[in-house]
Amino acid sequence: MAGIPAPTGSGDSAEDAFETSLPDYAARNRAHWNAASARYQAEQGRQLRDSGGLAWGVWQIPEAELRILGDVAGRTTLELGCGAAQWSIGLARVGAVAIGVDLSEEQLKAAWVASREAGVTVRLLHASGEAVPLPDACVDIVFSDWGAFRFADPDLVVPEAARLLRPGGLLAFSTATPLLDLCWADDAVSPGDRLLRDYFGLGRLDFATTIEFQRTTGDWIRLFRRHGLAIEDLIELRPPEGATTTYWEPEAYDWARRWPAEQIWRVRREGA
Ligand SMILES: C[S@@+](CC[C@H](N)C(=O)[O-])C[C@H]1O[C@@H](n2cnc3c(N)ncnc32)[C@H](O)[C@@H]1O
Repeated sequence: MAGIPAPTGSGDSAEDAFETSLPDYAARNRAHWNAASARYQAEQGRQLRDSGGLAWGVWQIPEAELRILGDVAGRTTLELGCGAAQWSIGLARVGAVAIGVDLSEEQLKAAWVASREAGVTVRLLHASGEAVPLPDACVDIVFSDWGAFRFADPDLVVPEAARLLRPGGLLAFSTATPLLDLCWADDAVSPGDRLLRDYFGLGRLDFATTIEFQRTTGDWIRLFRRHGLAIEDLIELRPPEGATTTYWEPEAYDWARRWPAEQIWRVRREGA
């Protein structure tokens, strides 16, 4: 099976040894996130911090409103593609045993600094979400906000999440909607009102800087079911009236008020 081998280190810190024989997309994405991390955190970090970490997507819609993860106190949470771990820090503050995984060591350094500054413990692992160096059925919640479920191969990261979840555990992640990917031209700064790609051609999306992944809605459903994940919800996010974001241009707000730009899958490991 293609994918990323588990790190050879003990998995206790971001400094662990990391296997570098990555698939092409992971190597490209890792290089991008290492190079972009400082700028990304300078441009987006404030918005993420201002939300207290616990908010979803481009418009930072509060978890308190969406109630995707539910009560996390005393639960083990695993964030795949944690970036600077704003989410995991927020979860640790409300009592979760938080673990963050990221492919980029620069993003993990930012996570390490941020968790120290916040005075909370987040266990950080340098790995791909496709091969996490943790045992089977060891976490209650696997989640990600535009992280590994956008930048890793869904055929590898979904079964890996299923492996890590305890029976009855929750997988929740945000990503782009297929519709957004159909309408956003490679060289444009905002989506348009025309379909530019084939829906049935969705899969690996090669952009200038990163390689990202999408599935048709039917393909997502079959992928979850194949790996023992029962679907609870598909939430199509709509930015609240007047919402602003540091991520996208203002035209994207108008688009996202008319059509769903982001979605959150909420699925549960069977067998509780
Ligand atoms: C857009 S950021 C999302 C992080 C955080 N939620 C935020 O909003 O800043 C995407 C993150 O996914 C990480 N990433 C990309 N591919 C990954 C993979 N295969 N496994 C784990 N993390 C990955 C990147 O390094 C980056 O930190």
